[in-house]
Amino acid sequence: MADFPPIIHYEKNGICLVFDLRRDAAEPVHIGNSLPANENLTAYCDAVRRGRHASQADNPAPRSILPHTGWGYDSTPAMVVHRGGTALALQMILVDAVQTPDELDFVHVDQVNGIRVDVRWHVAASGLLRSEVCLTNTAAIPAGLVELASIALPLPSWASHMTRYSGRWAAEMQQRRVTIDQGETGSASFGGRPGFGGGNWVRIESTELGEHHGQAIAAHLAWSGDHQLKVARNADGDAMLIMAARLDLGEITLEPGESWTTPQALLAVSDQGLAPLRHAFHRHATVETIPPSTVTTPRKVHINSWEVLAFAQDMPRLTALADAAAEIGVERFVLDDGWFKGRRDDTTSLGDWFADPGIFPDGLSPLIQHVRQQGMDFGLWVEPEMVSPDSDLYRDHPDWCLHVPGQPRPTQRNQLVLDLTLTEVGNYLFARLDDLLGNNDIAYLKWDHNRELFPLAGKGHAQVRALYALLDRLRAAHPDVEIETCASGGGRVDFEILRRCARFWASDNNDAIERLRINAGWFDFLPLRITGNHVSPSPNPITGRRLSMDFRAKVAMFGHMGVEADPAAMSVSERSILAAHIALYKQWRQVLHDGELTTISTGLDGIYGWMALAGHQGLALIAQTLQTSPYDAPHVRFAGLDPVMNYRVTLLAPWPARAAQSLANADLFRTGLILSGQALAQHGISLSLAFPETAWLVAFEQTGRA
Ligand code: DGJ
Repeated sequence: MADFPPIIHYEKNGICLVFDLRRDAAEPVHIGNSLPANENLTAYCDAVRRGRHASQADNPAPRSILPHTGWGYDSTPAMVVHRGGTALALQMILVDAVQTPDELDFVHVDQVNGIRVDVRWHVAASGLLRSEVCLTNTAAIPAGLVELASIALPLPSWASHMTRYSGRWAAEMQQRRVTIDQGETGSASFGGRPGFGGGNWVRIESTELGEHHGQAIAAHLAWSGDHQLKVARNADGDAMLIMAARLDLGEITLEPGESWTTPQALLAVSDQGLAPLRHAFHRHATVETIPPSTVTTPRKVHINSWEVLAFAQDMPRLTALADAAAEIGVERFVLDDGWFKGRRDDTTSLGDWFADPGIFPDGLSPLIQHVRQQGMDFGLWVEPEMVSPDSDLYRDHPDWCLHVPGQPRPTQRNQLVLDLTLTEVGNYLFARLDDLLGNNDIAYLKWDHNRELFPLAGKGHAQVRALYALLDRLRAAHPDVEIETCASGGGRVDFEILRRCARFWASDNNDAIERLRINAGWFDFLPLRITGNHVSPSPNPITGRRLSMDFRAKVAMFGHMGVEADPAAMSVSERSILAAHIALYKQWRQVLHDGELTTISTGLDGIYGWMALAGHQGLALIAQTLQTSPYDAPHVRFAGLDPVMNYRVTLLAPWPARAAQSLANADLFRTGLILSGQALAQHGISLSLAFPETAWLVAFEQTGRA
């Protein structure tokens, strides 16, 4: 048995960890800010040790990061392993705790069963904690994995609530705060991807929690396949967070000596409210996740053909759309679904990644050239993982799709899923995409994924790994092409796929009111820079709601802005309002995308507010979706500015016409009021927010010391 200290104190990148190792297990006692230099760590650990009651094991099970039932722990375990279909009765013992500047590795062994488990924690430069677990079969016979958590975290005693994220297609990331009651709350996905259920994101919270006060943990499973989330509280009041890739029975079998490592779980901790959690996740996404070449590139304004033309594509319409888009300042033209061989609706052609000869007799080049002449770059939609039964690819290779021999092949959106674990499938897809990118001036791919994976037949994990390999191969061959991850909107968003992507499609729902709700969930973890956010037509094709261009455009600015409406079909006034917001977005995108994002609350339902703050400048969006019950909304206060500095505060034009009439000091807000950061945080400003569907852009420029 290795010699390791009874208590570990580890500090890195602003995070301090204290583990009590005195009970043959790693028990986290502190995860958070630094402790005083002379803190007595033994006393610190002893102070929170719980007493034993009459109905517990004589030596109560430790609050370990590898909880399992062998020591009398009576709640959700972090691991289940079987041999020949019989679950192993594991009793893991901590045998080593290896500290390197990079990570902590807690080594657990059950010698009788021949299982070793390394739980590895790493503190990233962003201040996020990263956890992964590696299980090794040290016995002479195979072992099967049923469950292995990427993170099992005994929750601090302040953890009374959790914010869950749930949703459906076109309504992703709905936040729901619930108490952590006795029993298990959780969710899992079964469609071979994270899905719309939001269970790969969660926040654990203290009772009193706000933007700048209270204790909280935000957690995410960085994995593009199925997941499980469990938050369980047992009869003793002990709560545990478990996040894991969901495996099918028999999916992972380890031969003697083989290991399997889980996907990573990411964790942010804060004792100063929600803002530090968001900032750490945003930093991690930007600096340590998305491809480095895309970290600082200004995010170009898109036009996307989907909600304008859908499958009704032809050269005259496409070139007219490109011309109209260029006129209002759009910088990238994205040709969505409908461009490839025979695709006139969603029943055919997936897999046949050749330009349709009817629409593009000379290939995509003439359209791309036209787009480039308008000063825009060109992006293309693909859905490589899928195949239509009505396609040449399927006719040629009916066995390339996921299926169970002899069983029906159920479709979704009239399509099947290709089995990426087959080498020939990966090679075919690489060859087609490589050819498209190599022979056309394409700057960007929108990589879609419009159905769930079934029947998976135990291939979920391998399928995801094969997807990563395909993306990696393509990126290596075309490093300058930006890729967006889309799965009918936000059906597959996670930090592992984002290592290969510059942007994610947050939702198919571009209705600005719904988008405020959806984005509020995404922004808890993901930065504006990578959140695709488009101006939709009115009425919106999904909700049917009509919204003013002013409102739609302001909401779309807080993200990676795009347009999915035809400028030529807009009124002159709508077009000029949209063009003005595109110009504002270009002027402010560096602040929006490099800045730290704080939420602003007025305490009234229906008002959404965010402020992006970068150095001396800030930009806030305050968007009212309902009518206020009091005529005057509470003053809007902006915490997070430097209290001892003065700021010029302006309301950026164009203004919402109706609401602007009831501004008390319109001229002052036009030219700029000078107020200190302290005044803006404590006193605030009075905005006209009585009417529904009103949005304001509030700009802050530092002018000097207060
Ligand atoms: C689903 C995407 O989310 C939409 O934006 C669009 O690309 C369609 N697929 C095209 O089929």
